[in-house]
Amino acid sequence: MAQIKLTETVLRDSHQSLIATRMTTEEMLPVLEKLDGIGYHSLEAWGGATFDSCLRFLNEDPWERLRTIRAHVKNTKLQMLFRGQNILGYRHYSDDVVEYFVQKSIANGIDILRIFDALNDPRNLRTAINATKKEGGHVQAAISYTTGDVYTTEYFTNYAKTLEEMGADSICIKDMAGLLKPYDAYDLVKALKETVNVPIQLHTHYTSGLASMTLLKAIEAGVDVVDTAISPMAMGTSQPPTESLVATLAGTEYDTGIKLEQLDEITKFFAPLREKYLASGQLDPKMLKVDVNALIYQVPGGMLSNLVSQLKQAGKSDKLTEVLEEVPRVRADAGYPPLVTPSSQIVGTQAVFNVIGGERYKMVTKEFKGLVEGQYGKTPVDIDDEFVKKIIGDKERITCRPADALEPELDKLRAEIKQYMEQDEDVLSYALFEQVALKFFEYRKAKKYGLDADNADASLGIHTV
Ligand code: CO
Repeated sequence: MAQIKLTETVLRDSHQSLIATRMTTEEMLPVLEKLDGIGYHSLEAWGGATFDSCLRFLNEDPWERLRTIRAHVKNTKLQMLFRGQNILGYRHYSDDVVEYFVQKSIANGIDILRIFDALNDPRNLRTAINATKKEGGHVQAAISYTTGDVYTTEYFTNYAKTLEEMGADSICIKDMAGLLKPYDAYDLVKALKETVNVPIQLHTHYTSGLASMTLLKAIEAGVDVVDTAISPMAMGTSQPPTESLVATLAGTEYDTGIKLEQLDEITKFFAPLREKYLASGQLDPKMLKVDVNALIYQVPGGMLSNLVSQLKQAGKSDKLTEVLEEVPRVRADAGYPPLVTPSSQIVGTQAVFNVIGGERYKMVTKEFKGLVEGQYGKTPVDIDDEFVKKIIGDKERITCRPADALEPELDKLRAEIKQYMEQDEDVLSYALFEQVALKFFEYRKAKKYGLDADNADASLGIHTV
């Protein structure tokens, strides 16, 4: 008997994917205890873009959100998405910031950290993994799934083995673009189960219409946990619907142990919220359609729409096919990075430049140079020396772990925001999203003293200290 366990994503990836991460803590609050009573393996509830969104758009303290969720979810494990050395931000942070972020995430209520790197460079996961172990958290190390000649089963099993050796308590196949097809999922899960001893979890998106089938084949191959979203917030760019999978597995050897009737009150809670998001325009019906381009061109849906708009801006919309043919060549030149943020934008933009510039690499973006130089870590395949020289000239390549070049940052950051500190965690919000965090701190202060919080001015901030 192999009971399948479920991670419910409605509090994180589901609304990140469908409504640009705008679900508020207030909206979640009434359903938290009900979610806790279902018997999910875990609730993915924090991390990813939620942290940025709280500060930037919702005027919420992300740490307060986590504590609130934890206070109402007493039994179910809480899970977050953590981007390796990038934490939840957009650059590499120093080790002391990564360690402190992990420590505070766990202290405020996180049980499981799903840790990944866009290039699958294990060195970018090391600090986060070690810190999670030290704090007694569960390390779920994630493989960024992608397709292409070098992404053989062996590539993935080797990487999984490395992650297990580094201390992973479980391994996640993270298919952020919905590229994993059902029979490939079957083979991949089978191979991973033969290679590692820790549980395997599958995370995919419904974008290309495959996800429910993919989960089912992964289940037949022995996957342990899968990610789903409650139906009003499922499908499209989100996860496959929880209820449908629960019904599919009911009474089989894979039975989730969750009763459909229990889920009904969760469904009923989110149904009017979905209507509200549709009515307000936050939920664009376009997000809900099947995107077949992901299957035809093997590029993530988001990347394709970026290419289309870049070409349109340049008045070269007729060049789309050429660009789509150029993408795999640029990717090969650059060491076959998985096409996820930020590498998808870097490779895509360079492909556009190569086509509309009339000559390949006549114009090279700063980010592409950075990728070739090694600023983001090691690419899955070594980049040809001559190509490196062509792109960055005689500049020396970065071959060490990128964060090795970074000095500790915390003390300096603490000093900079001394006047705003209301909790230890504030320094981490500031470390990741400087100006955005300062603006939030101003808002918070104004609110506290009964001032007009919505007009709080961040320009009064750091420079006046
Ligand atoms: Co996702």
